[in-house]
Amino acid sequence: MTDTAECAAQLRALLHHHAHRYYVLDAPEIPDAEYDRLFQELQAIEASIPELRTPDSPTQRVMGQVLPGLMPVKHALPMLSIQTETDTTAAGAENFDGRVRRELALPEDAPPLEYAAELKFDGLAINLRYEHGVLVQAATRGDGETGEDVTQNIRTIGQIPLRLRGDAPPVLEVRGEVYMRRDDFDRLNERQREKGEKTYINPRNTAAGAVRQLDPAVTAQRPLSFFAYGLGDVQGWPLPPTHSALLDAIAAFGLPVCADRTVAGGAAGLTAFHAAMGARRDGLPFDIDGVVYKVNSLELQRRLGFKTREPRWAVAHKYPAQEQMTRLNGIEIQVGRTGKLTPVAKLEPVFVGGTTVSNATLHNLFELRRKGVRVGDTVIVRRAGDVIPEVVGRVPAVRPVYVPNFRMPRECPVCASPARRERGGMDYRCTGGLFCAAQRKQALLHFAGRRAMDIEGLGDKIVDQLVDAGIVRTLPELYRLGVANLAALERMADKSAANLVAALEASKRTTLSRFIYALGIRQVGEATAKDLARHFGSMDRLMDASVEQLLEVNDVGPIVAQSIQQFFAQPHHREIVEQLRAAGLNWDEGDGTADLSPKPLAGRTVVLTGTLPTLSRDEAKELLEAAGAKVAGSVSKKTSYVVAGTEAGSKLDKAVELGIPVLDEDGLRALLAG
Ligand code: IVH
Repeated sequence: MTDTAECAAQLRALLHHHAHRYYVLDAPEIPDAEYDRLFQELQAIEASIPELRTPDSPTQRVMGQVLPGLMPVKHALPMLSIQTETDTTAAGAENFDGRVRRELALPEDAPPLEYAAELKFDGLAINLRYEHGVLVQAATRGDGETGEDVTQNIRTIGQIPLRLRGDAPPVLEVRGEVYMRRDDFDRLNERQREKGEKTYINPRNTAAGAVRQLDPAVTAQRPLSFFAYGLGDVQGWPLPPTHSALLDAIAAFGLPVCADRTVAGGAAGLTAFHAAMGARRDGLPFDIDGVVYKVNSLELQRRLGFKTREPRWAVAHKYPAQEQMTRLNGIEIQVGRTGKLTPVAKLEPVFVGGTTVSNATLHNLFELRRKGVRVGDTVIVRRAGDVIPEVVGRVPAVRPVYVPNFRMPRECPVCASPARRERGGMDYRCTGGLFCAAQRKQALLHFAGRRAMDIEGLGDKIVDQLVDAGIVRTLPELYRLGVANLAALERMADKSAANLVAALEASKRTTLSRFIYALGIRQVGEATAKDLARHFGSMDRLMDASVEQLLEVNDVGPIVAQSIQQFFAQPHHREIVEQLRAAGLNWDEGDGTADLSPKPLAGRTVVLTGTLPTLSRDEAKELLEAAGAKVAGSVSKKTSYVVAGTEAGSKLDKAVELGIPVLDEDGLRALLAG
């Protein structure tokens, strides 16, 4: 091998290692920029000597052209389906365990069987064929005998290794599920909404559609993930004795295997797993539609064998579906805290995702139009995770009668102020501000929220009454509530009134960041509120901050800065803060978020590049930010200093070109010390 070939091979190995750390283990060892640098180095070598461009090279994830159609692939071993246990109670696990024990002719008093219990991922089944460690083919399940060749699309998924780690056998087929995480799906839909394009129905269909794309460049734009759950054809590799050990081995080859799995003893163990995962289902980062139980011993699996297309040793135990069809009875407008008018679907109540749903969001007028839903339609409702239920589409059917298309009202349905759409925006808003009772109610509820002032007992029923009866019009008026005027409310016992007064009293001692968040400034979420509290250390300094000063805060961009500045420019907002202070609210002490240490680097922008001798990039960033500096990613005329370590790249060149002071680690320490 030439030196260059050797160098390319080393770069490939290094990039495979770091891709595994990043995509599979979610624990990168080097900054993204360093990965990019190694990647570009390999790309440069391959560009000058194309023979060195191997198919398993990390540079070759997106390759190939748009296909006229997907080619059929005959599976070396058929891809089976799985029996489904639809009884979502404990009986589901007991039925399966009972069946297996009978088939194995176990006596009544035989000890519990050992099962591998794992999640049933809601995506698309894929067979990955590795020959001598290199991914050579990826195929969909198809009819189980013959699938479709989706190799060039699957190669774009970062989590799927192009080369296995360690000593790979001549043939190893890994089977698993390509899926899309919920956060990735939500972001994708958010982007579609911003572009005014059609949103996707659910993560599963979106993942399946992306895998079966004819243009790999399109697939590469879709955030897909993968979990392995079994093997197909294997040659030259001794199988471990159990399914759980087999999954461990697959993980050691560098493929993602879900950590939420266990070895369970008997029906009791399975039931416990089903219940435990059911309780965690909403909080998982991806959709599951059930759990899967597999007899753990591969020897017993062989003895149990198959019934036509399904193994007798496995079963899928379902959970209640997260999507259902129901009738759209009407569309109402809900007014949000910031005046946003949201069309809400009034539904024929339907059990979905574990609860009965009768309201679901339609997001905005444009999305409602794109989905083409009209009152009377049968629609698909989705409730996944703890997110708000939404109408994701309609079931195409002939409408028996003409129903006019939904129109947005010209006036706020609550306060009759004009409704306006911001230029270029998707949302209609009520222009009534805090004059609008709906906005006032939402502002109070937000203020009282668990992550804001945490006023227990101040829920929507009470807020509705307080606002409708004119008892509370502004935030400070909350603190004038006494047991007497509360107990006069409907369905409010003396005891609850006393509790609420106590909760109001207790909420007075808070933190600066909670208080900032509680004010409900547009664009200021919890994280921004924390950054603001840390940066300014006091309410007065925040209220007086200019847009320029606000821009110095970590992660605060022009839109957020302007929103904050405009909020405090309104005298009545400052008055609210003063009245709350006068009511006894105390956010400036016992806080921990307010950091009043000196900020020698306030207003300075620093760029880090290369590797420093002792400080990691994160450590350097933290120290700089604690000193008030803003750490930026690229060098410009506005950069105050560039801190450069070894192997600093183009940023250092740029700094020299622009004449910006360059510091090493010692220089950085001196700067921090003032
Ligand atoms: S095992 C012999 N395990 O469910 C059994 N399937 O199989 C072969 N699925 O579309 C499948 N999660 O893609 C197995 N942990 C899991 C699974 C799983 C999801 C899917 C699979 C197929 C369907 C029925």
